[in-house]
Amino acid sequence: MSAIVPGLSWSDVDLDELSAPLPSRVLVTGAGGSIGGDVVGLLHAYGAVVTALSDSWRRPSPAARVITADATDEGEMRNALEGTDAVVHLAAIPGAELAEPYQGYRINTDSTFNVLVAAGELGLRRAVIASSINAFGVPANRHELLPAYFPIDEEIPRELDDWYSLSKASDELSAQMAASHWGMTVVALRFPLTSLPSQIRARTHPLRHRQIREGWSYLDRRDAARAVVHALVAPLTGAHVIGLSAADTFREEPTTDLLDQYAPGVLRRRAFMGREALIDTTRARDLLGFVPRHTCSEPDPELIP
Ligand SMILES: NC(=O)c1ccc[n+]([C@@H]2O[C@H](COP(=O)([O-])OP(=O)(O)OC[C@H]3O[C@@H](n4cnc5c(N)ncnc54)[C@H](O)[C@@H]3O)[C@@H](O)[C@H]2O)c1
Repeated sequence: MSAIVPGLSWSDVDLDELSAPLPSRVLVTGAGGSIGGDVVGLLHAYGAVVTALSDSWRRPSPAARVITADATDEGEMRNALEGTDAVVHLAAIPGAELAEPYQGYRINTDSTFNVLVAAGELGLRRAVIASSINAFGVPANRHELLPAYFPIDEEIPRELDDWYSLSKASDELSAQMAASHWGMTVVALRFPLTSLPSQIRARTHPLRHRQIREGWSYLDRRDAARAVVHALVAPLTGAHVIGLSAADTFREEPTTDLLDQYAPGVLRRRAFMGREALIDTTRARDLLGFVPRHTCSEPDPELIP
């Protein structure tokens, strides 16, 4: 196990929140990581039987079955998926700076393809995969670019320039292929910066001109896990890319002032009230029934080792 990262306690989980029952047996890949560990905890609190798969672990997992394996391994993946009804695929190298391009791109896209092909062939009906705000390419682009418009939605033009963003864009296409080929429902969630309130508040100055490319967006860890369980039960068919965000930005200034200062020339498709988020979360609300509950102005939640 690498350095321990404390988990959320889920002691006050809202068991009535979901509109439909969860699949009873769920595989979570990347379960040893930050979002994956939280998702396993929440599914466990809901009473789902969870298989947790990861190639490393930062805290003990409450899952019924814990598998240490590489998500790109075909045999391991089939073994892990055997007997499950749905899969949440979060295993990935979560940033361009964390691996060499060929290695990182291969791991991310191979693992997503492997999960979706095995799930399709085994007859699973639902997969939720982690995409990223980076999937449209502008946030990590080396060139001086800004998003084509605000708020950023799932159709915003891509400007891909790094392997990580490309891997998430490729994963979204793999989702489309799997939904078409096997008739399963695949939801690709575009997570923004996902963390605890105190860590989000600590995001300050030096990156400010780049953070505008993500609309200073973020999501509380509790809401990220909630969005995943909503994606597991939402009444959907086909493949869907869905953007996520807290309701506000993590900046203190009003959103309109931020845009006036840092992106005066960028098209605004609507007006923004107060510190309103610059990510369009219409799909999350309408397709998943997901609305974020937490903001970075709150104290951190209770954590367990
Ligand atoms: N946290 C964020 O701010 C954020 C933002 C956007 C997208 N995402 C995406 O969400 C997902 C989860 O991110 P996270 O922040 O929890 O990352 P994390 O690094 O905390 O967790 C990823 C986990 O996946 C495991 N893993 C990596 N490659 C693997 C492989 N080949 N086989 C098995 N396990 C493997 C790692 O050991 C780790 O436990 C990733 O796909 C990431 O790209 C995260």
